[in-house]
Amino acid sequence: METREAICTRRSVHDYTDEEVTRDEIRRIIDDVRWSPSSYNLQPWEFVVVDDQEGQEELREAAYGQEHVTDASAVVLVFGNLDRGAYAERVFRDQARKGYSSDERAEELIERMEDEQPEGNEEWAVGSSTIAATTFMYAAWDRGIATCPMGGWEADAVCETVGAPETWYPVLMMTVGYPDTDGTEWERERKIRRSTDGILSFGEVGGGE
Ligand SMILES: Cc1cc2nc3c(=O)[nH]c(=O)nc-3n(C[C@H](O)[C@H](O)[C@H](O)COP(=O)(O)O)c2cc1C
Repeated sequence: METREAICTRRSVHDYTDEEVTRDEIRRIIDDVRWSPSSYNLQPWEFVVVDDQEGQEELREAAYGQEHVTDASAVVLVFGNLDRGAYAERVFRDQARKGYSSDERAEELIERMEDEQPEGNEEWAVGSSTIAATTFMYAAWDRGIATCPMGGWEADAVCETVGAPETWYPVLMMTVGYPDTDGTEWERERKIRRSTDGILSFGEVGGGE
């Protein structure tokens, strides 16, 4: 699928077929997701896949009973790692080795990130992790696998279900499965979008349609 086609045809899918999205297929999608951009290239995203009935039922409860959580082949949870130092050493040493920064700068950044406390890093972690989640949706769609991004869930219950550490901030839940293209949802016209001029202004604020 061309990139533009993937962007313009992706839609949030609630109706899935019974066909399983295999762990290998999810692994291939994540292989693509790895190339997403991130703040300082620190890649603070963590993905947890729940693909068993019991786990999906627990997540459905945490998601206020939303049915597609159990109807989907799997549920992907995206977390933002609040520990800026978690991967700092390998990231900054790589940048120095490849000429993106000096060795001194790399050392300085490693020390700075490793000294940071996790508190207050939510916004920072959400930014990069949301981009990675978006890459997931398009990389999946490129393979004919549909998703539905979800923000309607209880954070504590979701974290408890998968045993997320305190430094993993829950960002997004996504259902994943093959779309039921015979279903009524699929027949519906795409939902409205605001106009290009409405969301775009050059030089100074305008639009807002
Ligand atoms: C941050 C976010 C939270 C969302 N939460 C939910 C949700 O809890 N349940 C759901 O069914 N869809 C959810 N959606 C999907 C939106 O309803 C959907 O993207 C929107 O209506 C546009 O439809 P489309 O994606 O099919 O173009 C969410 C989407 C985003 C980006």
